[in-house]
Amino acid sequence: MRISRRDDALIVETPAKLNLHLEVLGRRDDGFHDLETVMVAVSLCDTLLLRPALPGQFVLRQRLAFAAPSWGPAPPTDDRNLVLRAARALAEATGTTRGVEIELLKRIPWQAGLGGGSSDAAATLWGLNQLWGLQLAPAVLHRVAATLGSDLNFFVARTPLAVCTGRGEHVQPYPLRRRLDCVIAQPPEGLSTAAVFRHWQPGGAMHRPDQLLSWLRGESALAAPASAYNALQSPALVLHSGVARLCRALAGLGATLVSMTGSGSACFGVCRSRRHAAQVASRVRRQTDCLTWVVQTQL
Ligand code: C5P
Repeated sequence: MRISRRDDALIVETPAKLNLHLEVLGRRDDGFHDLETVMVAVSLCDTLLLRPALPGQFVLRQRLAFAAPSWGPAPPTDDRNLVLRAARALAEATGTTRGVEIELLKRIPWQAGLGGGSSDAAATLWGLNQLWGLQLAPAVLHRVAATLGSDLNFFVARTPLAVCTGRGEHVQPYPLRRRLDCVIAQPPEGLSTAAVFRHWQPGGAMHRPDQLLSWLRGESALAAPASAYNALQSPALVLHSGVARLCRALAGLGATLVSMTGSGSACFGVCRSRRHAAQVASRVRRQTDCLTWVVQTQL
Protein backbone atom coordinates (compact mmCIF):
# COMPACT_ATOMS: atom_id res chain seq x y z
CA MET A 1 0.00 0.00 0.00
CA ARG A 2 1.41 3.38 -1.04
CA ILE A 3 0.17 6.69 0.37
CA SER A 4 1.06 10.04 -1.21
CA ARG A 5 -0.22 13.60 -0.80
CA ARG A 6 -1.64 15.84 -3.56
CA ASP A 7 -2.56 19.32 -2.24
CA ASP A 8 -5.14 18.72 0.50
CA ALA A 9 -5.93 15.16 -0.71
CA LEU A 10 -4.30 11.78 -0.10
CA ILE A 11 -3.87 9.13 -2.76
CA VAL A 12 -3.73 5.51 -1.60
CA GLU A 13 -2.75 2.66 -3.95
CA THR A 14 -3.85 -0.61 -2.42
CA PRO A 15 -3.16 -4.13 -3.71
CA ALA A 16 -5.06 -7.33 -4.43
CA LYS A 17 -4.03 -10.54 -2.66
CA LEU A 18 -3.53 -14.11 -3.74
CA ASN A 19 -3.98 -17.09 -1.40
CA LEU A 20 -1.06 -19.37 -2.29
CA HIS A 21 -2.34 -21.83 0.33
CA LEU A 22 -5.70 -22.00 2.10
CA GLU A 23 -6.71 -24.71 4.57
CA VAL A 24 -10.04 -24.68 6.42
CA LEU A 25 -9.38 -26.05 9.91
CA GLY A 26 -13.02 -26.30 10.98
CA ARG A 27 -16.43 -24.66 11.33
CA ARG A 28 -16.91 -22.47 14.41
CA ASP A 29 -19.91 -21.89 16.63
CA ASP A 30 -20.20 -18.28 15.37
CA GLY A 31 -20.76 -19.52 11.79
CA PHE A 32 -17.26 -18.56 10.61
CA HIS A 33 -14.47 -21.01 9.78
CA ASP A 34 -10.98 -21.23 11.23
CA LEU A 35 -8.37 -20.92 8.51
CA GLU A 36 -4.68 -21.18 7.87
CA THR A 37 -3.81 -19.26 4.74
CA VAL A 38 -0.67 -17.91 3.06
CA MET A 39 -1.32 -14.60 1.34
CA VAL A 40 0.82 -12.41 -0.91
CA ALA A 41 0.09 -8.86 -2.10
CA VAL A 42 0.31 -8.30 -5.86
CA SER A 43 0.70 -5.34 -8.19
CA LEU A 44 -2.97 -5.18 -9.31
CA CYS A 45 -4.16 -2.15 -7.28
CA ASP A 46 -7.24 -0.03 -6.59
CA THR A 47 -6.69 3.72 -6.11
CA LEU A 48 -8.46 5.84 -3.49
CA LEU A 49 -8.39 9.62 -3.35
CA LEU A 50 -9.40 10.97 0.06
CA ARG A 51 -10.34 14.63 0.60
CA PRO A 52 -11.45 16.38 3.76
CA ALA A 53 -15.23 17.00 3.86
CA LEU A 54 -17.64 18.80 6.20
CA PRO A 55 -17.94 17.33 9.71
CA GLY A 56 -19.94 14.11 9.74
CA GLN A 57 -20.08 13.92 5.93
CA PHE A 58 -19.04 10.60 4.34
CA VAL A 59 -19.26 10.45 0.55
CA LEU A 60 -18.07 7.69 -1.80
CA ARG A 61 -17.82 7.90 -5.57
CA GLN A 62 -16.72 4.85 -7.51
CA ARG A 63 -15.31 4.46 -11.02
CA LEU A 64 -14.84 1.04 -12.59
CA ALA A 65 -11.87 0.09 -14.75
CA PHE A 66 -14.06 -2.48 -16.55
CA ALA A 67 -16.35 -1.69 -19.47
CA ALA A 68 -19.22 -4.04 -18.55
CA PRO A 69 -18.36 -6.42 -15.74
CA SER A 70 -20.40 -9.62 -16.02
CA TRP A 71 -19.44 -11.23 -12.70
CA GLY A 72 -22.03 -9.51 -10.55
CA PRO A 73 -23.20 -5.97 -9.80
CA ALA A 74 -20.57 -3.48 -8.63
CA PRO A 75 -20.43 -2.93 -4.85
CA PRO A 76 -23.02 -0.33 -3.77
CA THR A 77 -21.68 3.15 -2.98
CA ASP A 78 -24.06 3.74 -0.05
CA ASP A 79 -23.50 2.96 3.64
CA ARG A 80 -23.29 -0.81 2.90
CA ASN A 81 -19.95 -0.26 1.17
CA LEU A 82 -17.03 -1.51 3.25
CA VAL A 83 -15.07 1.70 2.54
CA LEU A 84 -17.75 3.89 4.11
CA ARG A 85 -18.26 1.40 6.94
CA ALA A 86 -14.52 1.57 7.65
CA ALA A 87 -14.57 5.40 7.65
CA ARG A 88 -17.53 5.51 10.03
CA ALA A 89 -16.05 2.83 12.30
CA LEU A 90 -12.79 4.78 12.59
CA ALA A 91 -14.64 8.03 13.31
CA GLU A 92 -16.65 6.25 16.00
CA ALA A 93 -13.61 4.55 17.55
CA THR A 94 -11.71 7.84 17.83
CA GLY A 95 -14.60 10.23 18.50
CA THR A 96 -13.59 12.52 15.63
CA THR A 97 -16.33 14.60 13.99
CA ARG A 98 -14.40 15.00 10.73
CA GLY A 99 -15.79 13.88 7.39
CA VAL A 100 -14.30 12.54 4.17
CA GLU A 101 -15.01 12.43 0.45
CA ILE A 102 -13.57 9.34 -1.26
CA GLU A 103 -13.08 8.64 -4.97
CA LEU A 104 -12.40 4.99 -5.61
CA LEU A 105 -11.02 3.65 -8.89
CA LYS A 106 -11.69 -0.09 -8.94
CA ARG A 107 -9.33 -2.21 -10.99
CA ILE A 108 -9.57 -5.28 -8.73
CA PRO A 109 -12.61 -7.39 -9.69
CA TRP A 110 -15.10 -8.24 -6.93
CA GLN A 111 -16.56 -11.68 -6.12
CA ALA A 112 -13.14 -12.88 -7.22
CA GLY A 113 -11.32 -13.89 -4.01
CA LEU A 114 -8.76 -11.12 -4.60
CA GLY A 115 -9.69 -9.15 -1.46
CA GLY A 116 -10.46 -5.91 -3.32
CA GLY A 117 -13.19 -4.67 -0.96
CA SER A 118 -11.12 -5.51 2.12
CA SER A 119 -8.07 -3.84 0.61
CA ASP A 120 -10.08 -0.66 -0.14
CA ALA A 121 -11.37 -0.60 3.45
CA ALA A 122 -7.87 -1.12 4.91
CA ALA A 123 -6.60 1.70 2.65
CA THR A 124 -9.38 3.91 4.02
CA LEU A 125 -8.26 3.20 7.61
CA TRP A 126 -4.61 4.04 6.84
CA GLY A 127 -5.54 7.05 4.69
CA LEU A 128 -7.87 8.55 7.30
CA ASN A 129 -5.31 7.96 10.03
CA GLN A 130 -3.13 10.40 8.08
CA LEU A 131 -5.81 12.73 6.62
CA TRP A 132 -7.46 13.25 10.02
CA GLY A 133 -4.07 13.47 11.82
CA LEU A 134 -5.06 10.66 14.20
CA GLN A 135 -1.57 9.13 14.57
CA LEU A 136 -3.08 5.81 15.67
CA ALA A 137 -0.77 2.85 16.18
CA PRO A 138 -1.23 -0.05 13.71
CA ALA A 139 -2.68 -2.16 16.58
CA VAL A 140 -5.64 0.24 16.82
CA LEU A 141 -6.27 0.08 13.06
CA HIS A 142 -6.07 -3.72 13.31
CA ARG A 143 -8.74 -3.72 16.04
CA VAL A 144 -11.13 -1.64 13.94
CA ALA A 145 -10.35 -3.73 10.83
CA ALA A 146 -11.19 -7.02 12.56
CA THR A 147 -14.72 -5.76 13.30
CA LEU A 148 -15.36 -5.16 9.59
CA GLY A 149 -14.33 -8.45 7.92
CA SER A 150 -11.89 -11.34 7.87
CA ASP A 151 -9.45 -10.19 5.17
CA LEU A 152 -8.86 -6.56 6.16
CA ASN A 153 -6.07 -7.25 8.63
CA PHE A 154 -3.76 -8.68 5.97
CA PHE A 155 -3.95 -5.35 4.10
CA VAL A 156 -3.68 -3.26 7.29
CA ALA A 157 -0.39 -5.09 8.00
CA ARG A 158 1.03 -3.74 4.68
CA THR A 159 3.23 -6.80 4.27
CA PRO A 160 4.16 -8.60 1.03
CA LEU A 161 3.61 -12.02 2.65
CA ALA A 162 1.72 -13.31 5.69
CA VAL A 163 0.22 -16.39 7.26
CA CYS A 164 -3.30 -15.55 8.43
CA THR A 165 -5.20 -17.62 10.98
CA GLY A 166 -8.39 -17.40 13.04
CA ARG A 167 -11.14 -16.21 10.65
CA GLY A 168 -8.21 -14.66 8.76
CA GLU A 169 -7.77 -11.66 11.06
CA HIS A 170 -4.64 -12.89 12.91
CA VAL A 171 -1.75 -11.89 10.67
CA GLN A 172 1.82 -13.11 10.96
CA PRO A 173 3.82 -11.01 8.47
CA TYR A 174 7.00 -12.31 6.79
CA PRO A 175 9.50 -10.83 4.36
CA LEU A 176 9.10 -12.22 0.83
CA ARG A 177 12.38 -13.20 -0.83
CA ARG A 178 11.05 -14.34 -4.21
CA ARG A 179 9.46 -12.16 -6.84
CA LEU A 180 6.66 -14.13 -8.44
CA ASP A 181 5.36 -13.34 -11.94
CA CYS A 182 1.74 -14.44 -11.93
CA VAL A 183 -1.28 -14.52 -14.20
CA ILE A 184 -4.69 -13.89 -12.67
CA ALA A 185 -7.76 -14.93 -14.67
CA GLN A 186 -11.29 -13.91 -13.74
CA PRO A 187 -14.19 -15.94 -15.23
CA PRO A 188 -17.36 -14.14 -16.32
CA GLU A 189 -19.18 -15.33 -13.18
CA GLY A 190 -18.12 -14.38 -9.65
CA LEU A 191 -18.65 -16.34 -6.43
CA SER A 192 -20.12 -15.30 -3.09
CA THR A 193 -17.75 -15.99 -0.17
CA ALA A 194 -20.60 -16.99 2.15
CA ALA A 195 -22.04 -19.43 -0.45
CA VAL A 196 -18.66 -21.12 -1.01
CA PHE A 197 -18.08 -21.55 2.75
CA ARG A 198 -21.59 -23.04 3.08
CA HIS A 199 -20.60 -25.83 0.65
CA TRP A 200 -17.38 -26.69 2.53
CA GLN A 201 -17.43 -30.15 4.19
CA PRO A 202 -15.01 -31.32 6.89
CA GLY A 203 -12.91 -34.45 6.34
CA GLY A 204 -9.79 -35.30 4.39
CA ALA A 205 -6.12 -34.84 5.22
CA MET A 206 -4.90 -31.45 6.46
CA HIS A 207 -2.47 -29.65 4.17
CA ARG A 208 0.41 -27.70 5.70
CA PRO A 209 2.10 -24.68 4.07
CA ASP A 210 5.58 -25.25 5.61
CA GLN A 211 7.46 -26.02 2.40
CA LEU A 212 5.76 -23.19 0.51
CA LEU A 213 6.47 -20.75 3.29
CA SER A 214 10.15 -21.58 3.66
CA TRP A 215 10.52 -21.35 -0.14
CA LEU A 216 8.81 -17.92 -0.20
CA ARG A 217 10.99 -16.74 2.69
CA GLY A 218 14.07 -17.82 0.74
CA GLU A 219 15.07 -20.33 3.40
CA SER A 220 15.05 -23.34 1.16
CA ALA A 221 17.36 -24.15 -1.72
CA LEU A 222 14.73 -26.63 -2.91
CA ALA A 223 12.46 -25.94 -5.85
CA ALA A 224 9.00 -24.46 -5.29
CA PRO A 225 6.31 -26.89 -4.11
CA ALA A 226 4.73 -28.70 -7.05
CA SER A 227 1.21 -27.50 -6.30
CA ALA A 228 -0.82 -24.96 -4.37
CA TYR A 229 -3.73 -25.98 -2.14
CA ASN A 230 -7.06 -24.26 -1.57
CA ALA A 231 -9.66 -26.15 0.52
CA LEU A 232 -12.40 -23.87 -0.88
CA GLN A 233 -11.77 -25.00 -4.46
CA SER A 234 -13.89 -28.18 -4.21
CA PRO A 235 -16.91 -26.35 -2.71
CA ALA A 236 -16.48 -23.61 -5.32
CA LEU A 237 -16.61 -26.22 -8.11
CA VAL A 238 -20.11 -27.19 -6.98
CA LEU A 239 -21.19 -23.62 -7.76
CA HIS A 240 -18.94 -22.93 -10.74
CA SER A 241 -17.41 -25.77 -12.75
CA GLY A 242 -15.55 -23.26 -14.94
CA VAL A 243 -12.95 -22.88 -12.19
CA ALA A 244 -11.63 -26.42 -12.86
CA ARG A 245 -11.38 -25.77 -16.64
CA LEU A 246 -9.57 -22.52 -15.99
CA CYS A 247 -7.03 -24.15 -13.65
CA ARG A 248 -6.41 -26.90 -16.25
CA ALA A 249 -5.85 -24.26 -18.94
CA LEU A 250 -3.34 -22.36 -16.76
CA ALA A 251 -1.43 -25.55 -15.88
CA GLY A 252 -1.48 -26.68 -19.52
CA LEU A 253 0.28 -23.44 -20.50
CA GLY A 254 3.16 -24.13 -18.10
CA ALA A 255 2.04 -22.10 -15.05
CA THR A 256 2.82 -23.66 -11.64
CA LEU A 257 1.19 -23.35 -8.19
CA VAL A 258 -2.10 -23.03 -10.10
CA SER A 259 -5.09 -22.51 -7.85
CA MET A 260 -8.26 -20.57 -7.20
CA THR A 261 -7.62 -17.62 -4.87
CA GLY A 262 -9.67 -17.24 -1.66
CA SER A 263 -13.30 -18.18 -2.28
CA GLY A 264 -12.91 -17.53 -6.04
CA SER A 265 -13.83 -17.31 -8.74
CA ALA A 266 -10.47 -15.87 -9.91
CA CYS A 267 -7.62 -18.35 -10.44
CA PHE A 268 -3.90 -17.75 -10.80
CA GLY A 269 -0.69 -19.44 -11.82
CA VAL A 270 2.97 -18.60 -11.24
CA CYS A 271 5.03 -18.22 -14.42
CA ARG A 272 8.74 -18.52 -15.26
CA SER A 273 9.09 -14.81 -16.13
CA ARG A 274 7.04 -11.74 -16.90
CA ARG A 275 7.28 -12.65 -20.61
CA HIS A 276 5.96 -16.15 -19.94
CA ALA A 277 3.14 -14.62 -17.85
CA ALA A 278 2.19 -12.30 -20.73
CA GLN A 279 2.09 -15.31 -23.13
CA VAL A 280 -0.03 -17.36 -20.71
CA ALA A 281 -2.42 -14.43 -20.22
CA SER A 282 -2.94 -13.91 -23.93
CA ARG A 283 -3.52 -17.66 -24.56
CA VAL A 284 -6.01 -17.87 -21.64
CA ARG A 285 -7.91 -14.93 -23.17
CA ARG A 286 -8.04 -16.77 -26.50
CA GLN A 287 -9.07 -20.13 -24.98
CA THR A 288 -11.61 -18.84 -22.42
CA ASP A 289 -13.89 -15.86 -21.82
CA CYS A 290 -11.82 -14.71 -18.81
CA LEU A 291 -10.30 -11.34 -18.10
CA THR A 292 -6.58 -11.64 -17.29
CA TRP A 293 -3.91 -9.64 -15.50
CA VAL A 294 -0.14 -10.10 -15.41
CA VAL A 295 0.99 -9.20 -11.90
CA GLN A 296 4.05 -9.39 -9.67
CA THR A 297 4.42 -9.89 -5.95
CA GLN A 298 6.10 -7.01 -4.13
CA LEU A 299 9.29 -7.55 -2.19
O1 C5P B 1 -15.49 -11.79 6.92
P1 C5P B 1 -16.11 -11.64 5.59
O2 C5P B 1 -17.14 -10.54 5.56
O3 C5P B 1 -15.16 -11.56 4.47
O4 C5P B 1 -16.90 -12.99 5.36
C1 C5P B 1 -17.96 -13.14 4.45
C2 C5P B 1 -18.67 -14.45 4.77
O5 C5P B 1 -17.80 -15.56 4.47
C3 C5P B 1 -19.03 -14.61 6.23
O6 C5P B 1 -20.29 -14.06 6.50
C4 C5P B 1 -19.02 -16.12 6.40
O7 C5P B 1 -20.22 -16.67 5.92
C5 C5P B 1 -17.92 -16.56 5.46
N1 C5P B 1 -16.62 -16.74 6.14
C6 C5P B 1 -16.43 -17.87 6.94
N2 C5P B 1 -15.22 -18.05 7.57
C7 C5P B 1 -14.22 -17.18 7.42
C8 C5P B 1 -14.40 -16.03 6.61
C9 C5P B 1 -15.62 -15.85 5.98
O8 C5P B 1 -17.33 -18.70 7.08
N3 C5P B 1 -13.05 -17.38 8.03
